[in-house]
Amino acid sequence: MRSINWLERILWSVVIILAIIGIAAVVHRVLDLSHVIPPLIHPTFGAFDAAFRQYPVLTLSHIIPGCLFMVLGPLQFVPQLRARSINVHRWSGRVFVASGVVIGLSALVMNAFGMAIGGLNEAAATTFFALVFLGALGKAVVHIRRREIKLHREWMIRAFAIGLAVATIRPMVGLFFAATSLSPHEFFGIAFWLGFTAHLIAAESGSITRDDKPVT
Ligand code: HEM
Repeated sequence: MRSINWLERILWSVVIILAIIGIAAVVHRVLDLSHVIPPLIHPTFGAFDAAFRQYPVLTLSHIIPGCLFMVLGPLQFVPQLRARSINVHRWSGRVFVASGVVIGLSALVMNAFGMAIGGLNEAAATTFFALVFLGALGKAVVHIRRREIKLHREWMIRAFAIGLAVATIRPMVGLFFAATSLSPHEFFGIAFWLGFTAHLIAAESGSITRDDKPVT
């Protein structure tokens, strides 16, 4: 069995923590949409919650695949699972890609409905990265259909890293809120640009440094 070094251990810990943050965000939003938790009384964040309550179907069509993305994404990168059953990897991969397509398209629709709390700046960041995300997923599918495993892996890392950024953006938003005098309308867009860009840079180094032995 391949041993993992300390850097991989750190990377896996970060990925798991971020996936848990993502799942927690989905659970929180579902509880809010189903009125299990009371509406937030806050001038800005209250309006933010209200926007999602106004479009519950659209919101659910973004966050339920988002939850699948957070659960299946890390599993797709476990070499032992691929080795044990390549068919499970293939089927889970299909569900992952389908979820990703719905996430990306629903993000674009949410922007069109003006749901971004950070206004035009956040809408620009999420539109740009939704398109890069959908493009990366498309490239990953094209490469695997051509049996180009290494390229498939590289593009999947890019797609997964971009989607996972939504979890990094949450503590960043908390930090902006606590440590700056900017309003959420001002800092949300900045946090989205920073978070998505940082993840894409991390993906670039991750996708080219490790040459995983593919199991097909
Ligand atoms: C490229 C990937 C993604 C893009 C571009 C994107 C974009 C967006 C946009 C534009 C919104 C509405 C506006 C706003 O929140 O300010 C939103 C909301 C949301 N997204 Fe995503 N998203 C992506 C992936 C994901 C993933 C993978 C998850 C899984 C956890 C997720 C979870 C959520 C949740 C829970 C909300 C509701 C807002 C909240 O509760 O904070 N998103 N997303």
